[in-house]
Amino acid sequence: MNAVEVESITKIFRSSIKQEGLWGSLKSVVHREYKHYTAVNDVSFTVPQGQLLGLLGANGAGKTTLLKMLSGLLVPSSGHANVLGYIPWRRKHDFLHRFSLVMGQRNQLWWDLPAADSFLLNKEIYGLEHNSFVKWRDELAERLDVADKLHVQLRRLSLGERMKCELIGALLHKPEVIFLDEPTIGLDVVAQHSLREFIHQYNRDFNTTVILTSHYMDDIEALCERVLLIDEGSLLFDGELEELSKEFSAEKVLQLDFFKPINEKDIKEFGIVTECSPERAVLRINAENTPTITAKILSEYPVADLTITAVPIEEIVRKIFVKNS
Ligand SMILES: Nc1ncnc2c1ncn2[C@@H]1O[C@H](COP(=O)(O)OP(=O)(O)OP(=O)(O)O)[C@@H](O)[C@H]1O
Ligand SMILES: [Mg+2]
Repeated sequence: MNAVEVESITKIFRSSIKQEGLWGSLKSVVHREYKHYTAVNDVSFTVPQGQLLGLLGANGAGKTTLLKMLSGLLVPSSGHANVLGYIPWRRKHDFLHRFSLVMGQRNQLWWDLPAADSFLLNKEIYGLEHNSFVKWRDELAERLDVADKLHVQLRRLSLGERMKCELIGALLHKPEVIFLDEPTIGLDVVAQHSLREFIHQYNRDFNTTVILTSHYMDDIEALCERVLLIDEGSLLFDGELEELSKEFSAEKVLQLDFFKPINEKDIKEFGIVTECSPERAVLRINAENTPTITAKILSEYPVADLTITAVPIEEIVRKIFVKNS
């Protein structure tokens, strides 16, 4: 069963243009000019129940706009969407009880109250039974390792702890679909990692459908079996992350440490040198030739250490954008 179905959805924003100065202001009262901007352009996809889907795209690609339409905060200019059988922007009461939108850059909880107090409001809004509410809240807090933070005023918590509380608040009513818009933004590596682990485990344990955007490739790589790549509002790729790297990258990154200093020109024949200091070099090599290249380097140079990694997804994405622009 599909949890989300999107067909040819488009969002065109209209904003008025005001010319500079007082005269411009006066003129715009009488004759208002508008400019149109297509933020999401004819996007179609479906998401089966239980999938963890990643939305990738540069700043301004249209990710948040898309999630806002799927949560019913924005009405599309054209096209259809169906989330759990509902048309989101009709904002039916039942629908609002079955999904959650979490925005990493926006707080929903009360700044001056402890999270536990804010949660009481959610309990009322969603009509949750007290005992099961407390039990579920505590289980979530346990999973996120913030059980001792729920009664501390939100403003006193660290950014990571606050984000975890935001997530708890968003999950109290056990939504079947969760939209996560940059849930790890600004967090340090440790907090990012624990949030990521939580999302992964939660998705597996409860078969909840998750659509996630993130600027951190680690998040996407660790979490998403499938990704959508959006560029200037249009869907550029829909498939497995691995496929994306395969399709767009035939290179490997070879990192070498040497016992003795070497010259850049010595290793140039093997690939593109992206970094070279006397005792360390990083090269882009043709993935197919990895075995022969590494064998040759190992036999001819004073290699202390050698690692081969994939080209970072972030770079691949950047490349695709450049290619298509
Ligand atoms: N209310 C609005 N009115 C006019 N233009 C808007 C509005 N909201 C968004 N836009 C424009 O639509 C485009 C897409 O914005 P959106 O926030 O969806 O991008 P995004 O992919 O989420 O970017 P980011 O990675 O920076 O969060 C941007 O160019 C933005 O300026
Ligand atoms: Mg955004």
